[in-house]
Amino acid sequence: MDTSMPATPVQGSETDFLPLEGTDHIEFYVGNAKQAAHYYRTVLGFQPLAYAGPETGLRDRVSYVLRQQKMQFVFTTSLRSEGDVAEHVHRHGDGIKVIALRVPNSAGAWGETTRRGGRSYMEPKSMVDAHGEVVVSGIHTYGDVVHLFVERKNYTGTFMPGFRPWSTPYFSNEETGLLHVDHCVGNVGWGQMDPWVDFYRDVMGFRNILSFDDSDISTEYSALMSKVMSNGNGYVKFPINEPAAGKKKSQVEEYLDFHNGEGVQHVAMATNDIVSTVKALRSRGMDFLQVPVTYYDELFDRVGEIDEDIEPLKELGILVDRDDEGYLLQLFSKPVEDRPTLFFEIIQRKGAKSFGKGNFKALFEAIEREQGMRGNL
Ligand code: FE2
Repeated sequence: MDTSMPATPVQGSETDFLPLEGTDHIEFYVGNAKQAAHYYRTVLGFQPLAYAGPETGLRDRVSYVLRQQKMQFVFTTSLRSEGDVAEHVHRHGDGIKVIALRVPNSAGAWGETTRRGGRSYMEPKSMVDAHGEVVVSGIHTYGDVVHLFVERKNYTGTFMPGFRPWSTPYFSNEETGLLHVDHCVGNVGWGQMDPWVDFYRDVMGFRNILSFDDSDISTEYSALMSKVMSNGNGYVKFPINEPAAGKKKSQVEEYLDFHNGEGVQHVAMATNDIVSTVKALRSRGMDFLQVPVTYYDELFDRVGEIDEDIEPLKELGILVDRDDEGYLLQLFSKPVEDRPTLFFEIIQRKGAKSFGKGNFKALFEAIEREQGMRGNL
């Protein structure tokens, strides 16, 4: 037998079966899209981009598309009591339905992932207008969340066919320095982290780049476990959390109770200047978790030299952590709806590729204080 001709490809010659160019957009299903869009514009500095509704031929829903740098957020509401949007909002409150990924070939992405066991949400669909073609397909992931595969290389219009450009001449607001989606975190049920880690590995070709067990992430009361999944080029990162047993209720369990099942816990948005971004967000009315001022007493002992002055970090409550490759600055908002569910992270990476493990304790104690005030601890 000629052993110089391997029957299977040699290691390293395999191609990425799901090439991803990053996050295309995130779609929120909400109770009132007009007001939600206003919040994201006024508070977070997103800019109006596109609109779809009865005026563009939709009978049952309205969508507003906002953009800030590389991020596109879509806010969709139902015009009727029935239907998937209304039911989603009834079940989960306002939250994320779609994490859409940009791909070079949507039909290929759908074919590869469904062949590997992904459950189809939408077969490849070509949408065409005078500006070209967008192809969209999708699969289900945890809870009621779906991933769309968006191919837009042959499209020059605003967002997608079916949308019209949207602008409002009487109100303008500056952006806040938010650049792109850094990662999106999913909260899944007891014992469900590993099955979803397997899903991202087997169905989407992701790999596990970091793991935290309950000894890393436990405070006096509540605990969680987390594994971070990343695609090949690192443009798309999905940490998956599950609750762990503690003296009292895990923050992930509180989420699962109020979200009524698994879903997106937080979206981290990157900035190149976290001090000015957080200053802008705070002054526009975004509420952040507050760590005690004692957090800063031993900061330099823990993270060493950093470029930033400590005073503005302390004043704004910005957290710092270091790993082997550098450091990062981060801050977490309070939930952005009345249910204690979805929140945002603001992150500035200075070399670090990790997720702020050194801040977990201070952070989770802050989350628990809020949980306690809600009577859910
Ligand atoms: Fe995060």
